[in-house]
Amino acid sequence: MTTVDMGSRPHMHFGEAAARLRARGVDAPQVLEIGSWTGASLAAWDATFVGRARLVAVDRWEPYPLRGVGNFPYAAVNDQLASGEARREFNARVAAMVDRVEVVVEDSRAALVRFADEHRLFDLVYVDGDHRLEAARADIAGALAILRRGGVMCGDDLERQLCEIEDLDRHDTAAASGLDYVDGYHPGVTQAVGELFGRVWCRDGFWMIEV
Ligand SMILES: C[S@@+](CC[C@H](N)C(=O)[O-])C[C@H]1O[C@@H](n2cnc3c(N)ncnc32)[C@H](O)[C@@H]1O
Repeated sequence: MTTVDMGSRPHMHFGEAAARLRARGVDAPQVLEIGSWTGASLAAWDATFVGRARLVAVDRWEPYPLRGVGNFPYAAVNDQLASGEARREFNARVAAMVDRVEVVVEDSRAALVRFADEHRLFDLVYVDGDHRLEAARADIAGALAILRRGGVMCGDDLERQLCEIEDLDRHDTAAASGLDYVDGYHPGVTQAVGELFGRVWCRDGFWMIEV
């Protein structure tokens, strides 16, 4: 069985983040990825930095709470999480870069607090875990605390920026709904990114800020 395609293709813009770091003299960065699924984006980060990055992948690989009709295909995703298929595909990808990857099987909020307690810092954090509002807020705020000065934070699935939303009541309802994908966008990502940073650099849902 083929694993579910989790959506967008942000990988083609990873080079932009690498260019920002290179401009600051960083070409062998410490990279943290929140949400790895089958490891496609992790492998893309590894390729982007031509094997010179140290990569930490955080994922809990646990089934999502199932959500409503018309939302993302969570039943299929959950099957692949529960059967271990997603994790097996991830492991196969990581086997090719095992010397430079640390795998952290943990809830992202707990992992981010632990990293801060351990005084770990990263040059780049890629946020692509739970896209619901409270989770997105917590991941981004937690990531900011462990981002090295001069670093880059980026993420996926920002289809609409908060400043572009015309019907804010409808948006607020969507963000508060507990659904992560409504009306063709991820309202939690839109809200969390918008309230923390305002308008950000964004291409095809891949967003980025420099600190
Ligand atoms: C959109 S997928 C990641 C896709 C991946 N970055 C890629 O592009 O190939 C989201 C992942 O986040 C993980 N995830 C969701 N909530 C999480 C949490 N609270 N802590 C850790 N991982 C979580 C899921 O298990 C899933 O694998």
